[in-house]
Amino acid sequence: MVVRAPFFYLFNILAGCCEQGIKRKVLFPLTPEYVGYADTGLDDDIFVTNKPQIDILPNGQFKYRINFESLKITDDSGVICVSRPTNPTGNVINDAEIMQLDALAKQHAIPLLIDSAYGILFPGIIFNQATPIWNENIILSMSLPGCRCCGIIIANESIINAISNLNGIISLSPGSIGLALMLAILKRNDLLKLSQTVIKPFYQQRVTETVKIIRRYIPESRCLIHKPEGAIFLWLWFKDLPIDSQTLYTRLKKHGVLMVPGDYFFPGLNEHWPHSHQCMRMNYILPLEKIEQRIAILADEIEIAYQ
Ligand SMILES: Cc1ncc(COP(=O)(O)O)c(C=O)c1O
Repeated sequence: MVVRAPFFYLFNILAGCCEQGIKRKVLFPLTPEYVGYADTGLDDDIFVTNKPQIDILPNGQFKYRINFESLKITDDSGVICVSRPTNPTGNVINDAEIMQLDALAKQHAIPLLIDSAYGILFPGIIFNQATPIWNENIILSMSLPGCRCCGIIIANESIINAISNLNGIISLSPGSIGLALMLAILKRNDLLKLSQTVIKPFYQQRVTETVKIIRRYIPESRCLIHKPEGAIFLWLWFKDLPIDSQTLYTRLKKHGVLMVPGDYFFPGLNEHWPHSHQCMRMNYILPLEKIEQRIAILADEIEIAYQ
């Protein structure tokens, strides 16, 4: 089914105040997660999250993994939700992790929502191997990124009926621009071809070049990069930086450099975690010369912060 505002609908169908006065929660098994989920609940405090395991990798990279030991699915969990690839980190939850989440969701009789906005099957911005998965207990959402008006939900009949009813009340009908674009692409039989031959190679090449530029200007000891496995962002971790990410954001902005402070990407995290104030999300869509100018400014600001 095609809807607008899919997460607002899904989270409020599956979480918040429910029958018998139970307040159900959306569980993010991995944090950081997509900032767009925050504030979508009609009730307060509908999100809970699970801090990740952080693996330090070679070449100044790191990777978040789901910490299944600390992951708690409780009686009030209403849905498990992950973005794959993840905005902001470019992480791609691997097949084994997805299978484990799928099994846990079934065991607790709650759905698993996989937000595939940048992933399988289109636009397919995943640089490593990731198998598509769907079954009656999975809600798979897709998007036309950039168009921001076409959310596609693949789910069992009862979920689709609930969303249809809500959409009928709130939007009457889906927005038609995304649908018109999609129809034209489908008629040309171009959807998967464009994803594989144009979109994914573009982002993959761009991210490889951007990482090289970062490494020319900023040493590993100053900044670790989340292993870029997909999506359209890089996630930078300034572990020992004497200033927090909000301060760095403000200083960069004065030079016209916009990076998003990582603090916003921890919906559901109700505890103080220094790591959540040490990261920034950067976009690598600009031409490489512009990226280089901005990285040079970032490098200067980091050195100033250490002085
Ligand atoms: C993980 C994720 N999910 C969903 C969306 C929403 O996409 P759209 O508004 O293009 O449908 C985005 C957009 O940035 C995203 O990053």
